[in-house]
Amino acid sequence: MRELIYLDNGATTWPKPDIVHEKMGVFYRDYGVNPGRSGYDKAMEAEETVQLCRKKLTAFFNGDDSERLVFTYNATDALNQVIQGRLTEGGHAVSTTLEHNSVIRPLYHMDKRSDVEVTWVPFRESGFIDPEDIRKAIKSNTKLVIVNHGSNVIGTAQDIGAIGKICREADVFFAVDASQTAGVVPIDMKAMCIDAVCFTGHKSLFGPTGIGGICVAKDAVIQATRWGGTGVKSILKYHLEEYPYRLEAGTMNTMGVAGLLAGQEFIESRGGPQAIRDHEMKLARKLWEGIKDIDRVNLYCAESLDGHIPVLSMNVEGFEAANTGTLLDVDYDIATRTGLHCAPLVHEQMHTAEIGGTVRFSLGPFNTEEHIDAAIHAVGEIEKMSKGWTKSIDY
Ligand code: ALA
Repeated sequence: MRELIYLDNGATTWPKPDIVHEKMGVFYRDYGVNPGRSGYDKAMEAEETVQLCRKKLTAFFNGDDSERLVFTYNATDALNQVIQGRLTEGGHAVSTTLEHNSVIRPLYHMDKRSDVEVTWVPFRESGFIDPEDIRKAIKSNTKLVIVNHGSNVIGTAQDIGAIGKICREADVFFAVDASQTAGVVPIDMKAMCIDAVCFTGHKSLFGPTGIGGICVAKDAVIQATRWGGTGVKSILKYHLEEYPYRLEAGTMNTMGVAGLLAGQEFIESRGGPQAIRDHEMKLARKLWEGIKDIDRVNLYCAESLDGHIPVLSMNVEGFEAANTGTLLDVDYDIATRTGLHCAPLVHEQMHTAEIGGTVRFSLGPFNTEEHIDAAIHAVGEIEKMSKGWTKSIDY
């Protein structure tokens, strides 16, 4: 059997580092009890892992207080908590057309349920948001600016620091969807004036699926939108207002937390996010160089890769994205993601929705030059095949 060439790290990084598998196994076998509920040694040791992970991730994002690092199920869950916890009846939010459905749909639902108005700031032709467009969109009743840091479709990373400064000047809450960037692009909440970083665990933080979180800045206020057991102060009728309990209810995914903690060790062993990005961008540039001049290959928002994360979208003329993806998979054992990537507004703006979206290559730390050589070769062969393809597609 040929080796699978995995270029779908935007969906989830794979494989996970060995240290993550090892530490999760040890943790769950030896300390897999419920933390924060009881005082026996094992429960205390499980709780120590949770606290250490809160501390590590708070330092990682340069947050203020590890009690304000809350765990969620994933980034969607984190973003829902911020969106629903910030917006009230008749409020206004600013977001962008680069967003994932994890932001788009909660905002649409808030509009339907609570008459929340949303301004969708489009990206420029280059694939970047002009921070000044965010400034222009802010109104006197704006309660939230929420921006996708790194696009999961076209790979552009936004100037979060510039947007944060604008939000701080306007005194508006600024939340960042760091699903594609946490672990790849250094994020400094204080320097970038971010009120809440929403992250997932299973991408470039190298934890398992089912864990994510929010790093909440010190004076930032997010109303709780769910309530339940906290393991402490059980007599109280209402859910605790203090962090981390405020945004956490019920038994948490401790196995996921142990994986996230091990993921931090892996990132440190690789020299940190910037070093990981450098490796991945070197490969992304090689891929870009190798396919950008192929006749019938169309790359999207990739005139240059400056300011990008290692995510590249393309199509081969004459083929729908899904056809190209199937050829890559079946004939070349190359795993990519095709379609709209849960980010429909990006495709509406690029007019790629009508051709079934794009083929996305997304790179990870375990990709090699050989993987990229194979992908360049495969795209070249598919392009040759597309020339003889007679079935016309109505663009
Ligand atoms: N949002 C993830 C992706 O882009 C799942 O593939």
